[in-house]
Amino acid sequence: MSNERKLLELKEKIEKAQLGGGKKRIDRQHERGKLTARERVDLLLDENSFEEIDMFKTHECSDFGMEKKKILGDGVVTGYGSINGRLVFVYSFDFTVLGGSLSKTVAEKIVKVQELSAKNGAPLIGINDSGGARVQEGVDALAGYTDIFRNNILYSGVVPQISAIVGPCAGGAVYSPALTDFIFMVKNTSYMFLTGPRVVKSVTHEDVTKEELGGAVTHATKSGVTHFAFDDEKALFNGIRELMDYLPQNNTEEPEIKDTDDPVDRVDEELNYIIPDEPHRAYDMKKIINSILDNGEFLEVQPLYAKNMVVGFGRLNGRSVGVVANQPKSLAGVIDVKASNKAARFVRFCDAFNIPLLTFEDVPGFMPGTDQEFRGIIKHGAKLLYAYAEATVPKITVITRKGYGGAFCVMNSRNLRGDLSLAWPSAEIAVMGPKGASGIIFRHEIKDADDPDKKLQEKIKEYRDKFANPYVAASKGIIDEVIEPKLTRYKLIKSLEMLNNKRDDLPPKKHGNIPL
Ligand code: HXC
Repeated sequence: MSNERKLLELKEKIEKAQLGGGKKRIDRQHERGKLTARERVDLLLDENSFEEIDMFKTHECSDFGMEKKKILGDGVVTGYGSINGRLVFVYSFDFTVLGGSLSKTVAEKIVKVQELSAKNGAPLIGINDSGGARVQEGVDALAGYTDIFRNNILYSGVVPQISAIVGPCAGGAVYSPALTDFIFMVKNTSYMFLTGPRVVKSVTHEDVTKEELGGAVTHATKSGVTHFAFDDEKALFNGIRELMDYLPQNNTEEPEIKDTDDPVDRVDEELNYIIPDEPHRAYDMKKIINSILDNGEFLEVQPLYAKNMVVGFGRLNGRSVGVVANQPKSLAGVIDVKASNKAARFVRFCDAFNIPLLTFEDVPGFMPGTDQEFRGIIKHGAKLLYAYAEATVPKITVITRKGYGGAFCVMNSRNLRGDLSLAWPSAEIAVMGPKGASGIIFRHEIKDADDPDKKLQEKIKEYRDKFANPYVAASKGIIDEVIEPKLTRYKLIKSLEMLNNKRDDLPPKKHGNIPL
């Protein structure tokens, strides 16, 4: 064969591979408002940066007439490219090829990019749109899934792993995304569940649609399985690009420091007056977070789930930081099961990838009641304690108002290996709120008084005047500094600079036993 002929053959093969399951199925994908595997990769990566590997790999199944259904590349597109100039590895299920179902070959292709990403210390992004295990292949597909899960676990904390769900993701297949660091879903065309509506109906007799059972809104608001939900795929891939900017390539690197024109010493007078005089009045903690971060930019993670705990990424003087904050606007900022889990997982992610933690605290305590106790608030709250205490990245807390009881200990207190605790003059640090405390200490005095209500109010005031301030804690070194709120940005930047070379580690062990 002449060279020219060989080159033509290569070109034809590439063109054929790029058509995946063919034009008809590509059109069908588009009709449903979905993109193809390669269109998705192009939206995710920098222009023309994608290099595909294993384009000609085919499945090896010959049962059920499958030898006649071999498509170059099989059901997944894999390779590498860049996001804002930084190397990432990617796999993208091709729904036009047998519904993106997972064959032995598909699994081998994914495992290859997983291993390349770990060896080369670069993030891995999986784009999921698949009918699950390829039914014609049986157990080979199960073994393939398990290989993928195993690698998700081995490389957890080594390279950031991100999952986009842009179509079906059902059965055991959901566990690969669940093992990754962040899940991105798109509304109306993606869903994740262990068993679909039909099985649900036959087992529990519930009538439920796919969207209600496992759509983006359900997982963003109810289950907390997804971290982000977008209106369309374009927005979703932009979202992944935005998140990537806050992350390092791997666990041995730090996130890139970005140039910023936001002055280090920028003050915000409004912060001096943002805390309401009335102690039970709510305010929006996100206003404080936005005011302090560079250019007011805050990428909130899981914004619709456990709104009483806010987590997300921002920058201070160009340096990436992870923010964890109680939100007085939602359930008064109490910590419940959902909030504990949300924050604990976020803290562990930041610690694994060298992202300093800023904690903003205004917490009246853990949520009381049978509902929370029966759900195990004890062990879930313990996760947050555990996550903060084992984290070795720089950890700074700003107490804006309440820091009560066990919840004070949890929110990155000094004694939990927090590096610096700063308090606003409005901070109230005490073993419990003034009302509860007065009811215990002065119980008899109040009961015997002519007007018990009046007495209670007097005692609450007495307790508040004595303990509901930051100075008792500051006099004991539990608080490092009481600061004027408007200077918070400056103080935090200085604190982070001071902690830049922090070295800390844990006692030698195989691994700890976080209360799961
Ligand atoms: C082989 C599959 C397939 C599968 C879809 N296809 N899923 N082929 N194995 N798992 C094929 C279809 O035959 C069809 O082929 C094409 O993909 C598109 O599928 P449609 O059904 O036309 O698409 P749609 O109407 O959008 O429905 C999508 C779907 C449905 C809801 C995903 O296809 C479906 O229910 N598939 C089966 C899902 C399933 O039961 N998977 C196995 C789960 S067990 P043609 O040639 O017509 O285009 C599992 C275990 C994992 O995953 C365990 C891990 C530990």
